[in-house]
Amino acid sequence: MIIALDGPAASGKGTLARRLAAHYGLPHLDTGLLYRATARTLMDSDARLDDVAKAVAAARGLALTDFDENRLRGREMGEAASVVAAIPAVRAALIDMQRAFAQRPRGAVLDGRDIGTVIAPNATVKIFVTASAEARAQRRALELRGRGEDVDYYAILEDIRKRDARDRDRSDAPLKPADDAKILDTTDMNVEAALAAALAVTEAAM
Ligand code: C5P
Repeated sequence: MIIALDGPAASGKGTLARRLAAHYGLPHLDTGLLYRATARTLMDSDARLDDVAKAVAAARGLALTDFDENRLRGREMGEAASVVAAIPAVRAALIDMQRAFAQRPRGAVLDGRDIGTVIAPNATVKIFVTASAEARAQRRALELRGRGEDVDYYAILEDIRKRDARDRDRSDAPLKPADDAKILDTTDMNVEAALAAALAVTEAAM
C-alpha cells in the first residue's frame, strides 16, 4: 500500500503523513527533507543554490537516515529548498531513492509535491492536502515560534505565497493535484478532523 500526500507548504500534509504512517505501521518519507538537505549542503559549503553541478552532487550524496531536522526546518530553508527543487537535474537525482522507498515490501507513506504525479503514479491512495494561504501562514508561524524563531505572521504569509508560486510555476513536476487525487481542504479542520477525513479516503481505496 502506497499512500501519497501532496500539497503546498504548511498545508498539514506532513502531520497527516506521520499520523497515517503510525496508524498503518508503515515507513514514512518526508520528501521535502531531501530538497531541504540538498540546499543545506550547498549553503554549508558556501556554494550558490543555482550551481547545478554542485546541487546534483549534493542531492546524490544524501543518505535518508542522516537528516538533522533542527538545521533543515528553519524559515529560510523552505525557501532555499524550493530554489534547488526547481532544478530538473536535482529532481532527477532524487527520483530513484524516493521510488525505492515507495516500493518497500509492506508499502510506505510519502509526502511532498509530486508523489502522486511523478514518484508514485500508481499509489493506492492519493490525497492533495491544501488550505488557505492565511491558515497555512498561521500554522507555520506557530510552528516556527514553537521552535524558538521570532517570526512575523505577514512575513510568513509572504514567504508562503512566494513559495507556492515558485512550486506551481516550475516546468518540472510542478505542484498540482494528480488527476485521480482526492482534494482535502484543511482550512477549517483541526488535526483530528483532517486525520479522520484522510483515513476515510484511505479505507475507501484499500
Ligand atoms: O514540504 P517542504 O516545505 O519541506 O518542502 C520544501 C520545498 O521542497 C518545497 O517548497 C518544494 O519546492 C520542494 N519539494 C518538491 N517536491 C517534493 C517535496 C518538496 O519540490 N516532493
